[in-house]
Amino acid sequence: MFSEEELQKVQEIRSHYPTNLGAVMGVLHMMQDKYGMISDEAISYIAKLIDVPEENVLGVVSFYEMYHQHPTGKYKLQVCTNVSCLLCGSDMVQKTIKDKIGIGIGEMTEDGLFSVHEAECLGSCGTAPMMSVNKTYHEKLNPEKINAIIDELKAKG
Ligand code: FES
Repeated sequence: MFSEEELQKVQEIRSHYPTNLGAVMGVLHMMQDKYGMISDEAISYIAKLIDVPEENVLGVVSFYEMYHQHPTGKYKLQVCTNVSCLLCGSDMVQKTIKDKIGIGIGEMTEDGLFSVHEAECLGSCGTAPMMSVNKTYHEKLNPEKINAIIDELKAKG
């Protein structure tokens, strides 16, 4: 599932930790960046690759919301619904997205371009409400900004 180059990167990640368990999250990130999700096959593969029990890898995947065990869109919209964002309008963010592309939390557009996810605090509470699109943060959102972000992503395809 990983190329030679990626396997070298795995070795480098392992070298940063005293035990192989420490490398699980970094290797999971690599897998998700490559395939957009963590499949059951990927969990077994990672467990063997870095020699940790499969249950540990599965435990990390199921504990953290940032890992997905199902296919996600090319653009993964993560809407923070924690306290600051909730008070400042995460409902508006969700409604604007739904009005614009017709999907809500846990759904993906038919063309696979967008999926919407709920996120716990992404550490940007001072600029709530916010969402991330893949690794990019979009803050102090209002309907105009959200529509513009989505239009830009649609144009990129
Ligand atoms: S509450 Fe949304 S980023 Fe912290």
